[in-house]
Amino acid sequence: MSITPFQALACPLDGQPLHRSGSAWRCASGHSFDIASQGYAHLLPVQHKRSREPGDSKEMVAARRRFLAAGFYRPLAAAVSRAALADLPAGLASSCLDAGCGEGYYLRELAAAVPDEQLLALLGLDISKWAVLAAAKQDRRPTWVVGTNARLPVLPGTLDRVLCLFGFPVYAEFARVLKPGGRLLQLDAGPGHLRELREIIYPSLKPERPVDPSTPAGFIRRPSEALRFPIELTSTEQIADLLAMTPHLFRASAEGRAAAAALATLSLSVDVRLTCFERDLG
Ligand SMILES: C[S@@+](CC[C@H](N)C(=O)[O-])C[C@H]1O[C@@H](n2cnc3c(N)ncnc32)[C@H](O)[C@@H]1O
Ligand SMILES: [Zn+2]
Repeated sequence: MSITPFQALACPLDGQPLHRSGSAWRCASGHSFDIASQGYAHLLPVQHKRSREPGDSKEMVAARRRFLAAGFYRPLAAAVSRAALADLPAGLASSCLDAGCGEGYYLRELAAAVPDEQLLALLGLDISKWAVLAAAKQDRRPTWVVGTNARLPVLPGTLDRVLCLFGFPVYAEFARVLKPGGRLLQLDAGPGHLRELREIIYPSLKPERPVDPSTPAGFIRRPSEALRFPIELTSTEQIADLLAMTPHLFRASAEGRAAAAALATLSLSVDVRLTCFERDLG
C-alpha cells in the first residue's frame, strides 16, 4: 500500500488540526465539515467565497476530463510525477498537495507512479465543487477538498510537495504549508503553447511574455524543464474540449470560435515549463 491517509488538514475557520470522526472532519473547537457520500469535504467557508460557484464550471471540468483522459498531456503528467517523487525519503510517509487539482488527473497519475517502497499521502484541493466532485468520483485514495489556494486548509510546515499545475499560485501560502526543503512544482504555458489554435481564434497573436525570472520569497529556485511535443487532435469534439478547458474560449471572438468549430483535425504544439522551487531552510 503506497498511498496513505492525508493527516495534515486544518480547520478553515481557526487553523486547528482536523480529525476524522465518522463521515466528518472536526476540530477541537467543535467545527465540523461533512464528508459527502462521493468522498470529498467542503472546506471553503462562505465568507471566503468571492462568488456563488467559484472556479471552473461543470462544463469546463467535463471538457478537461475528456481531453486529459484521451492522453494528450500524458508526457506532462509523467514529468510532474517524476519531479514529485524525486528525492523523497523511502520508507517515511511523505505528503503532496495538488493546489487547484481540477478533476484530479495529475494526482491520479502520481498515485499510479508511486513505487511500492514509498508512502505518500495525497491531498487534492480546488475551489470548484464540480472539479472536486469529478475527482472524488474517479479515485477514492487521495483526500479531496473544496478550498482555496488563498487560505489553504493545511497545517503549517507539513508538506513535502505542492503542485500548482496551470493554476493560480499563492506563494506565501505554499511557503507556509511546505516543510523546509519541501518543493513546489509548477506547470505553466510557454510562449509556443497551442500556438496553432491561438492563430486560428485570434486576429493577431500578442507578443510573447518573457519567463518571470524572479524567485518567490521563502524559496530557492531549482532547475526547470521545458516540455515540448506535438499532439494531433482528430475530431471536432476534441478541439471543442480543448477550447473549453482553456481561457481562450472566453477571450476569442465569435468569428474565432466559429473558425475553430469548423475544424475536424488540428496539429498542435505543446510548450510547457515545469518550474521547481524549494522551500528554504529559514
Ligand atoms: C486551468 S485549471 C487546471 C486544473 C488542473 N490543475 C489541471 O491542469 O488539470 C485551473 C483550476 O484552478 C481552480 N481554481 C481557480 N481559482 C482557485 C483558487 N483560488 N484556489 C484553488 N483552485 C482554484 C479552477 O477551478 C480550475 O480547476
Ligand atoms: Zn475549527
